[in-house]
Amino acid sequence: MDTPVLQLDAVRKTFRDFWGRPTVEAVHGIGFDVRPGEIFGLLGPNGSGKSTTIRMLLGLLRADAGTIRVAGHAPGSREAAAVTGYLPEITHLHPFLTPRETLAYYGRLFGLGGRLLKERIDGLLRLTGLEYAADRRVGTFSKGMTRRVGLAQSLINAPRLLVLDEPTSGLDPIGTREVKDLILALRERGIAVLMSSHLLADVQDCCDRILILDRGDVRASGRVADLKETLETFFLRTVSRTDTPPPLEAAGGLPWLAAAPAPTEDRPRP
Ligand SMILES: Nc1ncnc2c1ncn2[C@@H]1O[C@H](COP(=O)(O)OP(=O)(O)OP(=O)(O)O)[C@@H](O)[C@H]1O
Ligand SMILES: [Mg+2]
Repeated sequence: MDTPVLQLDAVRKTFRDFWGRPTVEAVHGIGFDVRPGEIFGLLGPNGSGKSTTIRMLLGLLRADAGTIRVAGHAPGSREAAAVTGYLPEITHLHPFLTPRETLAYYGRLFGLGGRLLKERIDGLLRLTGLEYAADRRVGTFSKGMTRRVGLAQSLINAPRLLVLDEPTSGLDPIGTREVKDLILALRERGIAVLMSSHLLADVQDCCDRILILDRGDVRASGRVADLKETLETFFLRTVSRTDTPPPLEAAGGLPWLAAAPAPTEDRPRP
């Protein structure tokens, strides 16, 4: 069997305040691996630790304990960065650059240049459907267009490991289908994909294996093909909150939060 491109073992992270006091125990001992040609889904409710895990394996945050290896290297090392592509949860791009200039900038960071870089940029603009806007400033782009630039940027270094934090967020249904097809095609090329997503139907379509996090703990992990029910049913059962009352009740009733009666026609006009 292929050696994993990404390995995490017993990884923990607690956020601390200025005085070093623990504020949030974001990840309590998570372990998994992702192999070449495999799509691995990281799932969990809001605030369950998905992005924190992703930021640790990229070396953007330091883990408090446990080990992480990217192609056998420490996260954040030059060797790990060279083989990793990353689409962050929120795409931050320089607003005055065009997609073409943005890709050229990131390409040069990876030591690319000349004809090779130009070929890659043209190919990625085509792949992400951005040719028509290739020379417009990204600061004026819609959310979905910005996401497409981010996706193109994550592929410029021909990564062995592609890390996608909510790849389809902000995309229209056609864009979502295209990104899913792209992820599946990248698997065929032997690329290892780690993705987080709330769109469980998409995860069920794409992912080979999943891990469900809840409040920093691993609640379940395994092969999607082994599920006996839809992923949505399994997910909701796994992370269900039996202790939560209905929202208005939980907030103390809030009787003032109701639509005022509409003025009736027969009311005398002032
Ligand atoms: N820099 C930070 N400082 C303090 N707490 C943080 C920081 N980043 C994340 N947290 C906390 O860690 C927990 C996990 O957050 P994280 O962003 O990893 O969740 P997530 O699973 O990606 O959620 P979402 O689905 O909403 O993106 C949350 O309670 C969050 O408030
Ligand atoms: Mg997140």
